[in-house]
Amino acid sequence: MTTLDNATVTPVAIGRARGGPDVLTLRQDRWWVQPLVTVTVLTAFVVYSTWAVFVNKDYYVGIAMHRDLISPFYSPCIAGSCVPGSRGTDVVAYWWHITPALIVLGGPLGFRLTCYYYRRAYYRGFWQSPPNCAVADGHRRYTGETRFPLILQNVHRYFFFIALIFNVILTIDAVMAFRMPGAGGIGFSVGTLVLCVNAILLWLYSLSCHAARHLCGGGMRKFSTHPFRYRLWRLLTPLNGHHMQLAWASLVFVAFTDFYVRLVASGVITDPKLF
Ligand code: FES
Repeated sequence: MTTLDNATVTPVAIGRARGGPDVLTLRQDRWWVQPLVTVTVLTAFVVYSTWAVFVNKDYYVGIAMHRDLISPFYSPCIAGSCVPGSRGTDVVAYWWHITPALIVLGGPLGFRLTCYYYRRAYYRGFWQSPPNCAVADGHRRYTGETRFPLILQNVHRYFFFIALIFNVILTIDAVMAFRMPGAGGIGFSVGTLVLCVNAILLWLYSLSCHAARHLCGGGMRKFSTHPFRYRLWRLLTPLNGHHMQLAWASLVFVAFTDFYVRLVASGVITDPKLF
């Protein structure tokens, strides 16, 4: 049996922010891989999505190609600058003449930026605070999310409801993608599949949100008096356990969906009809 007398003791100087070790870390594994992957993927997404938002073309495949596919970055297209056919019937911002993607950007972006998982990921990856478990903080001081601007992260629960509105809209887009105007009326193409998978992933990501789980199971003393909320909580809890994976999958796929629509709209590829 190991006792304090014969145990090997590794001296650690306590000193950095949050009382961590004064050495970078005692970990011997490749702890830096996780923050490196986070920085790489998030940077690639930000660069691609910024370009896609401002390029302001090739975001809609319409009747000329017998399809009805719209990029999720541009939906709902409600500006005066939307290309003809891209859901322009309910245009509300006639005065908007720059890229329509800027109108819809705030909701999904705010939801992702304030997501509890992404916060952990980008605090670790970009801010090194800390880079990983049991690794020294990159900064001498730690103030958490108690002050401006990070205290604004608390609005995440409200962005959850905004995200649900976007999910409904993108689900309608996925249903509309079954339309094949001028080519049989209804069908199923690779583009339809891409928009459907995108909508499903976005729903799974949103419903696995911690705010959604709290909405169902939080603020009550006894589940027995709220059987419906309890059932919902039981449904969402396992989904919540996969929130990280769903966050990445939906992020990458939303960019892929835009990319696919863009390839078809620009004529680089044709959208194969499956049936
Ligand atoms: S915690 Fe990630 S979306 Fe709500």
